[in-house]
Amino acid sequence: MSDTLTLALSKGRIFKETLPLLAAAGIVPVDDPETSRKLILDTNLPDVKLIIVRASDVPTYVEYGGADIGVAGKDVLMEHPHAELYEPVDLKIARCKLMTAGKPDVEPSSGRLRVATKFVESTRRFYAEKGEQVEIIKLYGSMELAPLVGLADRIVDVVDTGNTLRANGLIPMEHIADISSRLVVNKASMKMKHKRMQSFIEHIRDAVREQN
Ligand code: ADP
Ligand code: PRP
Ligand code: MG
Repeated sequence: MSDTLTLALSKGRIFKETLPLLAAAGIVPVDDPETSRKLILDTNLPDVKLIIVRASDVPTYVEYGGADIGVAGKDVLMEHPHAELYEPVDLKIARCKLMTAGKPDVEPSSGRLRVATKFVESTRRFYAEKGEQVEIIKLYGSMELAPLVGLADRIVDVVDTGNTLRANGLIPMEHIADISSRLVVNKASMKMKHKRMQSFIEHIRDAVREQN
C-alpha cells in the first residue's frame, strides 16, 4: 500500500515524549517497544506503522526512504550535515544542551587538547570555529569516564540536569548548542504522499503548539 506512512522512532525518551504528539494526531501504537521484541509496530490506524531504530540511525532510515518520517535529536542531525532531509517541525521534546565538560581546576596536558565524544562532527566544527587544534577521540557512550581515566582532557556530550557530570566530578564548560528533537521527512515521500504527509505534519505542529 503506497499510502502507508512509516515513522522511525527510537526507544526510550524519544518514544515516550513523542507518544502524546502522535495521540493528538490520532495515532496510538498497538505494541509497546519497551516490552515487545518487534521492530515494526502496528498502530490503531492500518496505514500508519512505527519502526524502532537506534536514535543515531533515524536520519539514515529517513534519508534513504526506509521510513517516510522520523523523530531525531538535533544533536544527531548535526552529525549528518549533508543528509537530504526536510526538518519541518521542532517538537520541543528531549531538550538538553550540547556542551564541553571536563575536570575542574585541571590544566590540560601540554600539546593538543584531547576531546572524547560521540559527536565528532559537531566537536570538529566547534573547535575549528574557535581556531583551536584538538585531537578528537570517538566514543559510543559513557563519555564522562574518559577524563577520569586520562583518556581525554575534555568531553562533548548532551547535558540536561547536569547530574551525570556532577556524579563523575566533572563540570560543564562551554555551550555548543541548544538541543531538541525534530520531525524529519523523506524528500521523495513528501512529493509522492503529499496530502497524507502534509496533514500529518499539520496535526503534529498543532499538538506541539498546544503542549508549549
Ligand atoms: P541514545 O541511545 O542515543 O543515548 P537517547 O534516547 O538517550 O538515545 O537520546 C535520544 C535523544 O534525546 C538524543 O539524541 C538527545 O537529543 C536527547 N537527549 C539525550 N539525553 C538527554 C537527556 N539527559 N535529557 C534530555 N534529552 C536528552
Ligand atoms: C544522557 C547523556 C548524559 C546524560 C545527561 O545519557 O549521554 O550522560 O543523559 O543528562 P543529565 O545532565 O540530566 O545527567 P542517557 O540518560 O541517555 O543514558 P545513555 O548513556 O544510555 O545514553
Ligand atoms: Mg542516551
